[in-house]
Amino acid sequence: MAYYIGLMSGTSVDAIDAVLCNIDESSANPIQLLHNKSLPFPNVIQQQIHSISNAEYAHDPIEEMALLDRELGELFAEAVDDLLKDSEYSKDDITAIGSHGQTIRHRPDAYHPFTIQIGNPHSIAARTGITTVADFRTRDMVYGGQGAPLVPAFHQAIFHDPQQDRMIVNLGGIANITYLPANGELLGYDTGPANTLMDQWISRHQNKSYDQNGEWAQQGKVLPELLNDFMSDPYFSQPNPKSTGREYFNLNWLKQFSLDDFAPHDVQATLLELTAQSVSQAIQQHTQTGTVILCGGGAYNSVLQQSLKTHLSNFEVTTSQEFGVAPDWIEAMAFAWLAHRCLNNLSGNLPAVTGAKQETILGSIYPA
Ligand SMILES: Nc1ncnc2c1ncn2[C@@H]1O[C@H](COP(=O)(O)OP(=O)(O)O)[C@@H](O)[C@H]1O
Ligand SMILES: [Mg+2]
Repeated sequence: MAYYIGLMSGTSVDAIDAVLCNIDESSANPIQLLHNKSLPFPNVIQQQIHSISNAEYAHDPIEEMALLDRELGELFAEAVDDLLKDSEYSKDDITAIGSHGQTIRHRPDAYHPFTIQIGNPHSIAARTGITTVADFRTRDMVYGGQGAPLVPAFHQAIFHDPQQDRMIVNLGGIANITYLPANGELLGYDTGPANTLMDQWISRHQNKSYDQNGEWAQQGKVLPELLNDFMSDPYFSQPNPKSTGREYFNLNWLKQFSLDDFAPHDVQATLLELTAQSVSQAIQQHTQTGTVILCGGGAYNSVLQQSLKTHLSNFEVTTSQEFGVAPDWIEAMAFAWLAHRCLNNLSGNLPAVTGAKQETILGSIYPA
Protein backbone atom coordinates (compact mmCIF):
# COMPACT_ATOMS: atom_id res chain seq x y z
CA MET A 1 0.00 0.00 0.00
CA ALA A 2 1.37 3.40 -0.96
CA TYR A 3 0.02 6.89 -1.50
CA TYR A 4 0.41 8.56 -4.89
CA ILE A 5 -0.72 11.86 -6.36
CA GLY A 6 -1.87 12.19 -9.98
CA LEU A 7 -1.91 15.48 -11.89
CA MET A 8 -3.75 15.90 -15.15
CA SER A 9 -4.53 18.76 -17.44
CA GLY A 10 -5.97 17.81 -20.80
CA THR A 11 -6.63 19.38 -24.18
CA SER A 12 -9.58 21.34 -22.81
CA VAL A 13 -7.15 23.54 -20.83
CA ASP A 14 -9.85 24.09 -18.19
CA ALA A 15 -8.10 23.14 -14.98
CA ILE A 16 -5.37 21.11 -13.29
CA ASP A 17 -7.01 18.03 -11.79
CA ALA A 18 -5.21 16.63 -8.73
CA VAL A 19 -5.97 13.35 -6.95
CA LEU A 20 -4.52 11.53 -3.97
CA CYS A 21 -4.82 7.74 -4.23
CA ASN A 22 -3.94 4.67 -2.29
CA ILE A 23 -2.41 2.00 -4.56
CA ASP A 24 -2.11 -1.68 -3.74
CA GLU A 25 -2.01 -3.92 -6.79
CA SER A 26 -2.40 -7.08 -4.72
CA SER A 27 -5.83 -5.93 -3.54
CA ALA A 28 -9.15 -6.57 -5.29
CA ASN A 29 -9.60 -2.80 -5.32
CA PRO A 30 -6.10 -1.81 -6.50
CA ILE A 31 -6.57 1.94 -6.40
CA GLN A 32 -8.71 4.05 -4.11
CA LEU A 33 -9.41 7.74 -4.63
CA LEU A 34 -8.92 9.48 -1.27
CA HIS A 35 -8.92 13.18 -2.16
CA ASN A 36 -9.40 15.31 -5.24
CA LYS A 37 -9.01 18.95 -6.12
CA SER A 38 -9.28 21.03 -9.24
CA LEU A 39 -7.25 24.22 -9.80
CA PRO A 40 -8.82 26.21 -12.66
CA PHE A 41 -6.31 27.86 -15.01
CA PRO A 42 -6.16 31.67 -14.80
CA ASN A 43 -7.46 33.15 -18.09
CA VAL A 44 -4.11 34.62 -19.05
CA ILE A 45 -2.38 31.23 -18.68
CA GLN A 46 -5.15 29.59 -20.68
CA GLN A 47 -4.57 32.08 -23.50
CA GLN A 48 -0.81 31.55 -23.39
CA ILE A 49 -1.26 27.79 -23.64
CA HIS A 50 -3.61 28.18 -26.57
CA SER A 51 -1.31 30.59 -28.34
CA ILE A 52 1.79 28.43 -27.95
CA SER A 53 -0.10 25.26 -28.94
CA ASN A 54 -1.16 26.89 -32.19
CA ALA A 55 1.34 25.74 -34.78
CA GLU A 56 0.71 28.72 -37.07
CA TYR A 57 0.78 31.71 -34.79
CA ALA A 58 3.46 31.19 -32.15
CA HIS A 59 6.00 33.96 -32.82
CA ASP A 60 8.94 33.19 -30.51
CA PRO A 61 7.96 29.69 -29.58
CA ILE A 62 11.18 28.59 -27.87
CA GLU A 63 11.23 31.51 -25.45
CA GLU A 64 7.48 31.28 -24.82
CA MET A 65 7.63 27.55 -24.28
CA ALA A 66 10.50 27.77 -21.78
CA LEU A 67 8.75 30.46 -19.75
CA LEU A 68 5.41 28.73 -19.76
CA ASP A 69 7.04 25.41 -18.88
CA ARG A 70 8.45 26.93 -15.70
CA GLU A 71 5.28 28.83 -14.90
CA LEU A 72 3.12 25.72 -15.27
CA GLY A 73 5.58 23.78 -13.08
CA GLU A 74 4.87 26.30 -10.31
CA LEU A 75 1.11 25.98 -10.87
CA PHE A 76 1.18 22.18 -10.81
CA ALA A 77 3.10 22.37 -7.51
CA GLU A 78 0.42 24.74 -6.19
CA ALA A 79 -2.26 22.21 -7.16
CA VAL A 80 -0.42 19.57 -5.09
CA ASP A 81 -0.15 21.96 -2.11
CA ASP A 82 -3.89 22.70 -2.30
CA LEU A 83 -4.71 19.01 -2.52
CA LEU A 84 -2.56 18.09 0.48
CA LYS A 85 -3.87 21.01 2.59
CA ASP A 86 -7.39 19.67 2.14
CA SER A 87 -6.32 16.19 3.17
CA GLU A 88 -4.95 14.59 6.30
CA TYR A 89 -1.69 13.70 4.47
CA SER A 90 1.64 15.48 4.25
CA LYS A 91 4.41 15.30 1.64
CA ASP A 92 6.21 12.58 3.60
CA ASP A 93 3.25 10.23 3.15
CA ILE A 94 3.33 10.47 -0.63
CA THR A 95 5.52 8.06 -2.60
CA ALA A 96 5.38 10.04 -5.83
CA ILE A 97 3.51 12.44 -8.06
CA GLY A 98 2.69 11.41 -11.62
CA SER A 99 2.33 14.56 -13.69
CA HIS A 100 1.03 14.32 -17.22
CA GLY A 101 1.92 17.94 -18.09
CA GLN A 102 0.19 20.17 -20.61
CA THR A 103 0.41 18.94 -24.18
CA ILE A 104 1.46 21.69 -26.56
CA ARG A 105 2.31 19.51 -29.57
CA HIS A 106 1.56 15.86 -30.40
CA ARG A 107 2.94 14.55 -33.71
CA PRO A 108 2.67 10.75 -33.82
CA ASP A 109 2.97 10.79 -37.62
CA ALA A 110 6.16 12.85 -37.89
CA TYR A 111 9.24 11.17 -39.41
CA HIS A 112 10.59 11.01 -35.86
CA PRO A 113 7.31 10.99 -33.94
CA PHE A 114 7.31 13.29 -30.91
CA THR A 115 5.07 14.78 -28.26
CA ILE A 116 5.71 17.70 -25.93
CA GLN A 117 4.15 18.17 -22.50
CA ILE A 118 5.23 21.16 -20.43
CA GLY A 119 4.95 21.93 -16.70
CA ASN A 120 8.52 21.56 -15.48
CA PRO A 121 8.83 18.41 -13.33
CA HIS A 122 11.95 19.75 -11.56
CA SER A 123 9.82 22.63 -10.30
CA ILE A 124 7.13 20.25 -9.08
CA ALA A 125 9.61 17.94 -7.30
CA ALA A 126 11.60 20.80 -5.76
CA ARG A 127 8.60 22.87 -4.65
CA THR A 128 6.63 19.97 -3.20
CA GLY A 129 9.51 17.88 -1.88
CA ILE A 130 7.91 14.84 -3.54
CA THR A 131 9.52 12.60 -6.19
CA THR A 132 7.84 13.39 -9.49
CA VAL A 133 7.39 11.19 -12.56
CA ALA A 134 6.69 12.92 -15.89
CA ASP A 135 7.13 12.61 -19.68
CA PHE A 136 5.07 9.43 -19.91
CA ARG A 137 4.49 9.38 -23.65
CA THR A 138 7.88 9.67 -25.31
CA ARG A 139 9.26 6.16 -24.73
CA ASP A 140 6.19 4.55 -26.27
CA MET A 141 6.69 6.73 -29.37
CA VAL A 142 10.34 5.79 -29.62
CA TYR A 143 9.13 2.18 -29.88
CA GLY A 144 6.87 3.16 -32.75
CA GLY A 145 3.69 3.78 -30.74
CA GLN A 146 1.28 6.69 -30.84
CA GLY A 147 2.21 7.65 -27.26
CA ALA A 148 -1.56 7.78 -26.72
CA PRO A 149 -3.97 7.00 -25.33
CA LEU A 150 -2.31 5.86 -22.10
CA VAL A 151 -5.43 5.57 -19.94
CA PRO A 152 -6.67 2.21 -21.36
CA ALA A 153 -4.17 0.23 -19.24
CA PHE A 154 -5.60 1.96 -16.18
CA HIS A 155 -9.17 1.44 -17.39
CA GLN A 156 -8.33 -2.25 -17.62
CA ALA A 157 -6.95 -2.26 -14.07
CA ILE A 158 -10.10 -0.76 -12.58
CA PHE A 159 -12.99 -1.60 -14.93
CA HIS A 160 -12.28 -5.02 -16.43
CA ASP A 161 -15.08 -7.48 -15.72
CA PRO A 162 -14.70 -11.16 -16.75
CA GLN A 163 -18.52 -11.44 -17.03
CA GLN A 164 -19.26 -8.49 -19.28
CA ASP A 165 -17.95 -6.59 -22.32
CA ARG A 166 -17.26 -3.00 -21.33
CA MET A 167 -16.44 0.10 -23.31
CA ILE A 168 -14.90 3.06 -21.46
CA VAL A 169 -15.44 6.37 -23.23
CA ASN A 170 -13.33 9.31 -22.06
CA LEU A 171 -14.94 12.56 -23.21
CA GLY A 172 -12.20 15.17 -22.69
CA GLY A 173 -11.11 17.65 -25.34
CA ILE A 174 -10.54 14.57 -27.50
CA ALA A 175 -12.59 11.37 -27.14
CA ASN A 176 -10.89 8.05 -26.57
CA ILE A 177 -12.43 4.62 -26.15
CA THR A 178 -11.15 1.54 -24.36
CA TYR A 179 -12.78 -1.74 -25.33
CA LEU A 180 -12.52 -4.27 -22.49
CA PRO A 181 -14.02 -7.54 -23.72
CA ALA A 182 -14.89 -10.02 -20.97
CA ASN A 183 -12.45 -12.38 -22.74
CA GLY A 184 -9.93 -11.33 -25.31
CA GLU A 185 -7.58 -8.53 -25.99
CA LEU A 186 -8.39 -4.95 -25.17
CA LEU A 187 -8.33 -2.12 -27.69
CA GLY A 188 -8.17 1.62 -27.28
CA TYR A 189 -7.67 4.73 -29.38
CA ASP A 190 -8.73 8.33 -29.93
CA THR A 191 -11.96 8.45 -31.93
CA GLY A 192 -11.75 12.20 -32.68
CA PRO A 193 -13.07 15.34 -31.00
CA ALA A 194 -15.22 15.15 -27.85
CA ASN A 195 -15.49 18.71 -26.49
CA THR A 196 -12.68 20.60 -28.18
CA LEU A 197 -14.58 21.77 -31.27
CA MET A 198 -17.72 22.59 -29.27
CA ASP A 199 -15.59 24.51 -26.74
CA GLN A 200 -13.79 26.48 -29.45
CA TRP A 201 -17.01 27.23 -31.34
CA ILE A 202 -18.93 28.49 -28.30
CA SER A 203 -15.93 30.49 -27.19
CA ARG A 204 -15.84 32.25 -30.55
CA HIS A 205 -19.59 32.95 -30.75
CA GLN A 206 -20.72 33.26 -27.13
CA ASN A 207 -17.48 33.99 -25.32
CA LYS A 208 -18.04 31.04 -23.00
CA SER A 209 -15.45 28.38 -22.29
CA TYR A 210 -17.89 25.50 -22.79
CA ASP A 211 -21.53 24.73 -23.53
CA GLN A 212 -22.94 23.91 -20.11
CA ASN A 213 -25.04 20.74 -20.32
CA GLY A 214 -25.19 21.24 -24.09
CA GLU A 215 -27.86 23.93 -23.63
CA TRP A 216 -26.72 26.07 -26.58
CA ALA A 217 -26.46 23.01 -28.84
CA GLN A 218 -29.95 22.05 -27.80
CA GLN A 219 -31.32 25.34 -29.14
CA GLY A 220 -30.02 24.43 -32.60
CA LYS A 221 -30.84 21.65 -35.03
CA VAL A 222 -28.46 19.11 -36.48
CA LEU A 223 -27.56 19.86 -40.11
CA PRO A 224 -27.36 16.40 -41.77
CA GLU A 225 -25.28 17.43 -44.80
CA LEU A 226 -22.80 19.33 -42.71
CA LEU A 227 -22.57 16.34 -40.36
CA ASN A 228 -21.77 14.12 -43.35
CA ASP A 229 -19.10 16.55 -44.46
CA PHE A 230 -17.56 16.53 -40.97
CA MET A 231 -17.70 12.72 -40.87
CA SER A 232 -15.96 12.44 -44.25
CA ASP A 233 -12.72 13.62 -42.64
CA PRO A 234 -10.26 10.73 -43.17
CA TYR A 235 -9.41 10.55 -39.45
CA PHE A 236 -12.75 8.90 -38.69
CA SER A 237 -12.21 6.01 -41.12
CA GLN A 238 -8.49 5.59 -40.42
CA PRO A 239 -7.86 2.22 -38.75
CA ASN A 240 -6.52 2.13 -35.19
CA PRO A 241 -4.02 2.57 -33.58
CA LYS A 242 -4.46 6.32 -33.96
CA SER A 243 -4.32 9.43 -31.82
CA THR A 244 -5.13 13.05 -32.42
CA GLY A 245 -5.29 16.43 -30.69
CA ARG A 246 -6.08 20.09 -30.90
CA GLU A 247 -3.37 20.64 -33.49
CA TYR A 248 -5.72 18.84 -35.90
CA PHE A 249 -9.30 19.41 -34.64
CA ASN A 250 -9.49 23.19 -34.19
CA LEU A 251 -11.11 26.31 -35.66
CA ASN A 252 -8.83 26.00 -38.67
CA TRP A 253 -10.20 22.50 -39.33
CA LEU A 254 -13.71 24.00 -39.20
CA LYS A 255 -12.81 26.68 -41.76
CA GLN A 256 -12.94 24.19 -44.63
CA PHE A 257 -16.74 23.86 -44.20
CA SER A 258 -18.01 27.43 -45.01
CA LEU A 259 -19.83 27.65 -41.70
CA ASP A 260 -20.84 31.31 -42.22
CA ASP A 261 -23.86 30.01 -44.16
CA PHE A 262 -25.34 28.49 -40.99
CA ALA A 263 -26.72 29.70 -37.65
CA PRO A 264 -23.95 29.24 -35.04
CA HIS A 265 -26.18 27.23 -32.68
CA ASP A 266 -27.05 24.83 -35.52
CA VAL A 267 -23.32 24.31 -36.06
CA GLN A 268 -22.96 23.63 -32.31
CA ALA A 269 -25.77 21.05 -32.45
CA THR A 270 -24.01 19.43 -35.42
CA LEU A 271 -20.65 19.39 -33.63
CA LEU A 272 -22.26 17.67 -30.64
CA GLU A 273 -23.74 15.12 -33.01
CA LEU A 274 -20.32 14.66 -34.63
CA THR A 275 -18.93 13.60 -31.26
CA ALA A 276 -21.87 11.27 -30.57
CA GLN A 277 -21.78 9.71 -34.04
CA SER A 278 -18.02 9.26 -34.32
CA VAL A 279 -17.81 7.71 -30.85
CA SER A 280 -20.81 5.42 -31.46
CA GLN A 281 -19.56 4.24 -34.85
CA ALA A 282 -16.18 3.44 -33.37
CA ILE A 283 -17.80 1.43 -30.56
CA GLN A 284 -20.05 -0.51 -32.94
CA GLN A 285 -17.05 -1.56 -35.02
CA HIS A 286 -15.97 -3.71 -32.09
CA THR A 287 -19.13 -4.95 -30.41
CA GLN A 288 -22.92 -4.69 -30.58
CA THR A 289 -23.78 -5.05 -26.90
CA GLY A 290 -22.31 -4.42 -23.47
CA THR A 291 -21.90 -1.61 -20.98
CA VAL A 292 -20.65 1.81 -22.03
CA ILE A 293 -19.06 3.78 -19.18
CA LEU A 294 -18.70 7.52 -19.80
CA CYS A 295 -16.03 9.59 -18.09
CA GLY A 296 -14.27 12.95 -18.58
CA GLY A 297 -15.99 16.34 -18.44
CA GLY A 298 -18.22 15.56 -21.44
CA ALA A 299 -20.02 12.94 -19.32
CA TYR A 300 -21.78 15.94 -17.70
CA ASN A 301 -23.16 17.16 -21.03
CA SER A 302 -26.67 15.73 -20.77
CA VAL A 303 -27.54 16.40 -24.42
CA LEU A 304 -24.42 14.54 -25.55
CA GLN A 305 -25.20 11.73 -23.13
CA GLN A 306 -28.73 11.47 -24.50
CA SER A 307 -27.52 11.38 -28.09
CA LEU A 308 -25.03 8.62 -27.25
CA LYS A 309 -27.84 6.64 -25.62
CA THR A 310 -29.93 7.01 -28.79
CA HIS A 311 -27.09 5.82 -31.04
CA LEU A 312 -26.17 3.00 -28.67
CA SER A 313 -29.66 1.71 -27.87
CA ASN A 314 -28.38 -1.89 -27.60
CA PHE A 315 -25.95 -0.93 -24.88
CA GLU A 316 -26.33 0.01 -21.28
CA VAL A 317 -24.91 3.55 -21.23
CA THR A 318 -23.84 4.87 -17.84
CA THR A 319 -21.13 7.02 -16.25
CA SER A 320 -18.16 6.05 -14.09
CA GLN A 321 -20.09 7.52 -11.15
CA GLU A 322 -22.12 4.27 -11.16
CA PHE A 323 -18.82 2.50 -10.40
CA GLY A 324 -17.97 4.83 -7.55
CA VAL A 325 -15.54 7.16 -9.37
CA ALA A 326 -16.64 10.63 -10.46
CA PRO A 327 -16.01 11.10 -14.21
CA ASP A 328 -13.70 14.09 -13.57
CA TRP A 329 -10.92 12.23 -11.78
CA ILE A 330 -10.19 9.12 -13.80
CA GLU A 331 -7.46 10.57 -16.00
CA ALA A 332 -5.59 12.12 -13.06
CA MET A 333 -5.90 8.79 -11.22
CA ALA A 334 -4.39 7.12 -14.26
CA PHE A 335 -1.26 9.26 -13.92
CA ALA A 336 -0.93 8.47 -10.20
CA TRP A 337 -1.12 4.81 -11.22
CA LEU A 338 1.40 5.26 -14.05
CA ALA A 339 3.86 6.88 -11.57
CA HIS A 340 3.43 3.81 -9.36
CA ARG A 341 4.09 1.54 -12.37
CA CYS A 342 7.25 3.48 -13.25
CA LEU A 343 8.71 3.43 -9.74
CA ASN A 344 8.06 -0.31 -9.51
CA ASN A 345 9.72 -1.01 -12.88
CA LEU A 346 6.42 -2.13 -14.38
CA SER A 347 5.41 -1.38 -17.95
CA GLY A 348 2.80 1.30 -18.51
CA ASN A 349 1.93 1.08 -22.20
CA LEU A 350 -0.17 -1.49 -24.03
CA PRO A 351 1.23 -2.25 -27.50
CA ALA A 352 -2.25 -3.38 -28.62
CA VAL A 353 -3.46 0.16 -27.94
CA THR A 354 -0.59 2.44 -28.91
CA GLY A 355 0.94 0.29 -31.66
CA ALA A 356 4.37 0.26 -29.98
CA LYS A 357 6.65 -2.67 -30.78
CA GLN A 358 6.99 -3.61 -27.13
CA GLU A 359 5.85 -2.96 -23.59
CA THR A 360 8.00 -0.45 -21.78
CA ILE A 361 8.32 1.46 -18.52
CA LEU A 362 6.89 4.95 -19.04
CA GLY A 363 8.11 8.19 -17.49
CA SER A 364 11.22 9.92 -16.20
CA ILE A 365 11.88 10.23 -12.47
CA TYR A 366 12.71 13.58 -10.88
CA PRO A 367 13.87 13.04 -7.29
CA ALA A 368 12.53 15.28 -4.55
N1 LIG B 1 -21.68 20.40 -17.24
C1 LIG B 1 -21.03 20.29 -18.41
N2 LIG B 1 -21.70 20.40 -19.57
C2 LIG B 1 -21.08 20.31 -20.76
N3 LIG B 1 -19.76 20.10 -20.89
C3 LIG B 1 -19.02 19.96 -19.78
C4 LIG B 1 -19.60 20.04 -18.48
N4 LIG B 1 -18.62 19.87 -17.57
C5 LIG B 1 -17.46 19.71 -18.29
N5 LIG B 1 -17.70 19.77 -19.61
C6 LIG B 1 -16.75 19.64 -20.72
O1 LIG B 1 -15.64 18.91 -20.30
C7 LIG B 1 -14.43 19.59 -20.63
C8 LIG B 1 -13.35 19.26 -19.63
O2 LIG B 1 -13.23 17.86 -19.59
P1 LIG B 1 -11.89 17.14 -19.10
O3 LIG B 1 -12.24 15.72 -18.85
O4 LIG B 1 -11.25 17.93 -18.02
O5 LIG B 1 -11.05 17.21 -20.44
P2 LIG B 1 -9.47 17.31 -20.66
O6 LIG B 1 -8.92 16.02 -20.18
O7 LIG B 1 -9.36 17.50 -22.13
O8 LIG B 1 -9.05 18.52 -19.82
C9 LIG B 1 -14.83 21.06 -20.63
O9 LIG B 1 -13.97 21.81 -21.47
C10 LIG B 1 -16.25 21.00 -21.19
O10 LIG B 1 -16.24 20.99 -22.59
MG1 LIG C 1 -9.46 19.04 -17.87
